[in-house]
Amino acid sequence: MRIGVLTGGGDCPGLNAVIHAVVRKGIVHYGDEFVGFLEGWRGVLDNNTTPLTLHKVDGILTEGGTILRTSRTNVRKVEGGIAKCVAVLKANKLDALIAIGGDDTQSVTNALIEAGVPGVGVPKTIDNDLNGTDVCFGFDTAVMIATEAVDRLHTTAESHNRVIVCEVMGRDAGWIALTAGVAGGAHVVLVPEKPIDLDHVCAILKYNHEHGKKYGIVVVAEGAKLPSGEQAVKGEKLDAFGHVRLSGIGERLAEEIEKKTGYETRSVNLGHTQRGGTPTAYDRMLATRYGLAAIDLVHQGKFGRLVVLRGTKIEDIPLAEAIAKNRTVDDSFLSVISSLEPKV
Ligand code: F6P
Repeated sequence: MRIGVLTGGGDCPGLNAVIHAVVRKGIVHYGDEFVGFLEGWRGVLDNNTTPLTLHKVDGILTEGGTILRTSRTNVRKVEGGIAKCVAVLKANKLDALIAIGGDDTQSVTNALIEAGVPGVGVPKTIDNDLNGTDVCFGFDTAVMIATEAVDRLHTTAESHNRVIVCEVMGRDAGWIALTAGVAGGAHVVLVPEKPIDLDHVCAILKYNHEHGKKYGIVVVAEGAKLPSGEQAVKGEKLDAFGHVRLSGIGERLAEEIEKKTGYETRSVNLGHTQRGGTPTAYDRMLATRYGLAAIDLVHQGKFGRLVVLRGTKIEDIPLAEAIAKNRTVDDSFLSVISSLEPKV
C-alpha cells in the first residue's frame, strides 16, 4: 500500500517513535511505501511531501520533536480546504492516511474520513486530555520534566522562606499539574477542572507556615480559572482552532498570594520545556505500540478509527468518539489532591 503520514498540532516527545514504528513495520512486514506530509495539514494543503524510507526513520525513535515538523493548520477553516486535501491525497495515489495528533488534528482527520478518505488516527497530546485513551504519549515525559522542576523548587523556596508558584501546561485538563504536583510534593495543586479558591490556597500556606513549614510550593495548570472565573491569557489572538494563548496564571497567582499572606512569593512558568527533548522510555514504548497498531489497522481496512490505550492493552475506537469531548481530571483524582491538604 501507499500510505501518507503527518503530525499535527503542538509537538510532543514520542512523535518520531510513532513515525519510526509505522514506517518500519509498514515496509518490513507489509511492503508499503510512505509519503510524509510536512508541517501537519498545511503540508497536505500545499502538497509538501517527503518520502519516508527506512533510512529516513533510522535512529529517530529516541529523538524529541517530529522529523515531519508540525503546524496548527485548520483545513476546515480554509475555503475548499477539505476538497483540496482530498485532491492532493488522490494525486499522491495514497491508499490510506495516518494522522498523528490531538483533538484538533483528529477533527480534521474525521472531516476527511467523512469525505471518503481512508484515515486512521494516533492520539497525541502532552495534556493527556484526548477522550477514549488512558494515556497519550508525551504526557509521561512532560510529567517527568515538570516533577523534576518541582523537586528543584523545594530547596530554593525553603532556603528563602518563599512561596513559589510553578505554572505547567494543561489547557482544559490538569493532568500534568495533578501528577507532577502530587509526585513533586507540592503543597497546593490547582487544575482547570476546579476554580481557584484563593482564600483556601492562602489558608493552606498559612497553616503550613504556622506548623513549621515556612515555605510553599504551588503547582498550577495554565488553564486554571481565577476566582473571577477568567483565565490568564496572552493577547487576544486566537489560533486556527479558536484557542486563545494561555499563559500567566502563575504570575497572577503569585501576586495575589503575596498580597494576601505577606509571604515573599515568586513564580516560574515551565512552558515549552515540557514539550521539548527526548521522550522517556515509557513514551517511546507507548508511541511505538501506537504506531504498530495504526499500520495494522490500515492493513485490516479499519478506517475512521483511533488507536488507544485501555489499561495495558492497545485497542481502537471510532475517531468521532475521541473528539467528542475532553478527558478531564475526575473526582477520584481530585480527591488525591484534597486528601493530602491540611484541614483548613
Ligand atoms: O499541545 C497542547 C499544548 O501544549 C497546551 O498545553 C498549550 O496550551 C498549547 O499546546 C501551547 O501551544 P503553542 O505551542 O502553540 O504555544
